[in-house]
Amino acid sequence: MENGSPGHISCRLMEWYGRQRRDLPWRRTTDPYAIWVSEIMLQQTGVHTVIPFYERFMIRFPTLPALAGASLDDVLKAWENLGYYSRARNLHRAARIVAEEKKGRIPSDLSGLLSLPGIGKYTAGAILSIAFGQRIPAVDGNVRRVLSRVFAVTEAADTPAGEQILEEQARCLMPADEPGTFNQAVMDLGALVCLPKKPRCPSCPLEDFCEGNRRGIQETLPVKATRPPLPTKVFMTALLRSLDGRYLAVRRPERGLLGGLWAFPTIERNNGDPATWLGGQAGVTVLKMGTLPPVRHGYTHFRVVAHPFLYHLREAASEIGEREGHVWLRPGDFDRYALSALDRRIFNNVLPMDNGIAERPGRKGIK
Ligand code: ADE
Repeated sequence: MENGSPGHISCRLMEWYGRQRRDLPWRRTTDPYAIWVSEIMLQQTGVHTVIPFYERFMIRFPTLPALAGASLDDVLKAWENLGYYSRARNLHRAARIVAEEKKGRIPSDLSGLLSLPGIGKYTAGAILSIAFGQRIPAVDGNVRRVLSRVFAVTEAADTPAGEQILEEQARCLMPADEPGTFNQAVMDLGALVCLPKKPRCPSCPLEDFCEGNRRGIQETLPVKATRPPLPTKVFMTALLRSLDGRYLAVRRPERGLLGGLWAFPTIERNNGDPATWLGGQAGVTVLKMGTLPPVRHGYTHFRVVAHPFLYHLREAASEIGEREGHVWLRPGDFDRYALSALDRRIFNNVLPMDNGIAERPGRKGIK
């Protein structure tokens, strides 16, 4: 094999992977459903975070029919704290489509997979190569870093032009047999050796072929397109506490940020008078009791600062009643509901201030 040829490079990489591969739970299966679940979880989350979620999820929903038959609430609960909840909603929707329209068979072609919600080019490539043995690249962040260094690609890697170059490089290196192993080998090289800040070039099986290393520019790669800083949105979050010690939680609209999750009522600051808005939310008059520390969270396209306010009500939850998408929860009930990370932190901050049920004598609380 010619020194530095694509075959030589991939051969070195595959040998290295044989010795150093990470033993990950989704690598112990050939079940396309399990591989699909893992790739969805890994879209925006690191391997170590994903492992316990993946293992619990596969126990809870071991097969595609189990997932398709589950309620969205149960799926979101299993996804709680993993973030980027549209992944869970899309996975659930896609499982139902496969169950109902594709006789339970996960598509094994690119256009079939791309037609399912939540599956883009990267995930389709990963599923097709790993589960179905097809020679299709899967270029994620780790792979981008490895390939842009090996081939000294100076085009911004997160632009369509850069992506296309890297995909072609991956295709060119990919062996005909074991394309899934090859894709995962590049991922592992990026995760273990070709690190973002201090790449371990002396331990790298591709050191001899790496053009970035030869030119001494590996730490400057991949080049990223410059983007404007993320805007910050300021929210006011209301903890409405009924006389019998329950808090109002509202279900977020299914489409949109954190859709389907339960939340404390929240409005963007400067979006009207909070007392009027809160009255409208719960149909009650509120007494402001205090403020809690602000909570921050970063989403893909913006940052959020939420200022939580605690309000006490004169009524018990049973007197107020529940509307569609509203529930009055005791602190102990919150564990059963899927909340965003931000709302969970607000809830954890209010808990120490909660002094239990303040029920009026002779009144019956709701069950
Ligand atoms: N990141 C995305 N897919 C992966 C996989 N199959 N193994 C390790 N890391 C990954």
